[in-house]
Amino acid sequence: MSGTVVVGGGIIGLSIAYRLMSRGADVTVLDGGDDGAWHVAAGMLAPGGESEHEDPQLIRLLERSAELWPGFAAELGVDVGYDDTGTLSLAMTPDDLAQRARVWSRQQLPLLRPSELRTFEPALSPRVRAGVLAREERQVDPRKVVRALRERLGSRVVLKRVSSLSDVDAATVVVAAGCGTAALTGLPVRPVKGQVLRLRGEPGLLRHVLDAAVDGREVYIVPRADGEVVVGATQEERTDRLVTAGGVRDLLRAALDLVPGLAEFELTETTVGHRPGTPDNAPLLGRLDERVIVAAGHFRNGVLLAPVTADLIAGLVLDGSSPPSPFSPGRF
Ligand code: GLY
Repeated sequence: MSGTVVVGGGIIGLSIAYRLMSRGADVTVLDGGDDGAWHVAAGMLAPGGESEHEDPQLIRLLERSAELWPGFAAELGVDVGYDDTGTLSLAMTPDDLAQRARVWSRQQLPLLRPSELRTFEPALSPRVRAGVLAREERQVDPRKVVRALRERLGSRVVLKRVSSLSDVDAATVVVAAGCGTAALTGLPVRPVKGQVLRLRGEPGLLRHVLDAAVDGREVYIVPRADGEVVVGATQEERTDRLVTAGGVRDLLRAALDLVPGLAEFELTETTVGHRPGTPDNAPLLGRLDERVIVAAGHFRNGVLLAPVTADLIAGLVLDGSSPPSPFSPGRF
């Protein structure tokens, strides 16, 4: 095999391969055949709300990728569920409000009263105390994105599980294997379990993404145009794939407290994924050695960071330009 081989057929690996292909490179993706975190992910594109940490370099990378998303979605040429209605970030109790206030003040968004919030989303519980509208925080449907990327790449995606990089015959190997990156490279990528639910009902109950603190619990609710509603997510330092009674109870309780009308929706899916975390929960982007490049460890932001990762890694492969040094795999 010549050219570049991308190990990993998730949203990161496919996006990199797509960008390499669109720049005229010879590329093959080796897809291990398992659904990755993208299959579970809700697809929030939230550069502000998802960054608990305030590392300015990471925030800049998240914002840069958020800016790339409209063009990336358009380039794919099919509906990938890109929706720019925006996100309502909400707090239910005074303690929830105190917990959210720091992020909101960094985002410099005006605080909205309950009556104002209900003009945006009439289905919200009257218990919601305050919130902000983050117009820049959008959504995409990761399952549709992956389907579109696979279609564009066609026969360049090959079903093959890689257990050692020495088995990959290519001049350049890009490891974008999510949590599997640790076994292939020795880099510290750990699985962080997330349980996510999918509900389905009449379209139109909600229009915005909701991201809320509800009685001390974090929950997000992502409504799609077709009536699907994604509810997430637990965050557990665990490797198992169990959907637990407690996980489902906590997510449903928070979601139904926030939007009581969801009680009438059908519970269609209970899923588990593993976010690829790193010790500082920032991604690993860069060269490991002469032949091997890494693009992994995107933690809670794999969907958001796909376009910028694709551009940066294609730039490294084709132009020799290094991604920003704070994300170098050499830091561990
Ligand atoms: N980005 C949402 C999550 O990781 O749950």
